[in-house]
Amino acid sequence: MKGIILAGGSGTRLHPLTKVTSKQLLPVYNQPMIYFPLQTLLKAGIKDILIIVSPDHSGDFVNLLGSGRQFGARFAYEVQDAPEGLAQAFIIGEEFIGKDDVAMILGDNIFTHDFTSAVQNFKGGATVFAKQVPDPERFGVIDIATDGKVLSIEEKPEQPKSNLAQVGFYMYDNKVIQHAKNLKPSKRGELEIVDLANIYLEQGLLNAEVLQGDWIDAGTFESLYKASTIVRENNLGMNLEGDLKVQFEVQDVKKPAGI
Ligand code: DAU
Repeated sequence: MKGIILAGGSGTRLHPLTKVTSKQLLPVYNQPMIYFPLQTLLKAGIKDILIIVSPDHSGDFVNLLGSGRQFGARFAYEVQDAPEGLAQAFIIGEEFIGKDDVAMILGDNIFTHDFTSAVQNFKGGATVFAKQVPDPERFGVIDIATDGKVLSIEEKPEQPKSNLAQVGFYMYDNKVIQHAKNLKPSKRGELEIVDLANIYLEQGLLNAEVLQGDWIDAGTFESLYKASTIVRENNLGMNLEGDLKVQFEVQDVKKPAGI
């Protein structure tokens, strides 16, 4: 399975921090934010990774991450000219994906969940992941029946049908490229990731799994601060001394109040 880290966007919610750099390059305690989604993919066994960046700071990503050899991986880069939606990643990444399945992770999402078995057991269609949150209206919201069947998936609904947020890790079969090409921009002018999920849902090919570990979307001041605290207290992140040593084996994650 190929991997994509989506690390473009304008980062306006973090101005002025993101006026001269990208959100995904900001520090989360002792490491650049993008190291965390990168580590999530590497840990799941995904080593062929496309990093999609905005034009403004594209060179900085290459300076930081290089060819991937340092991480025992292989990186490719593409520029997204404008933030026209998460689902556009599969159009931009068409050549890179080739005939493979693909997992995408958002560059500002930090997980303690281990996706290895989900990646190894992927059998086509699409798999999305959900996490209980107190404020589902801020996210894509998944409604799941007691038997695990996905009932609906909606982007930032005013009246959420559940408190399960769709997190920023997704797995798709190769048809995702064609489905993304068939999407129409939403009212906010973006190719929406939930519209992709809805195509798979209509075909009976959408699976959802509820996350075991912790999840932070570090895209606001508050969540960025909390992400740093969690990373520091639990010694998360990559140990880049010698071989890549993944330290995401945390069971009882200590959390500051309010997460
Ligand atoms: O974090 C999980 C949520 O991420 C999901 O629950 C939502 O379904 C999904 O739409 C997304 O919502 P956000 O409001 O967090 O999306 P945001 O616009 O912040 O974009 C997420 C990341 O993707 C961010 O790091 C910037 C990057 N991005 C975004 C867009 C729209 C791109 O690289 N290109 C884009 O065109």
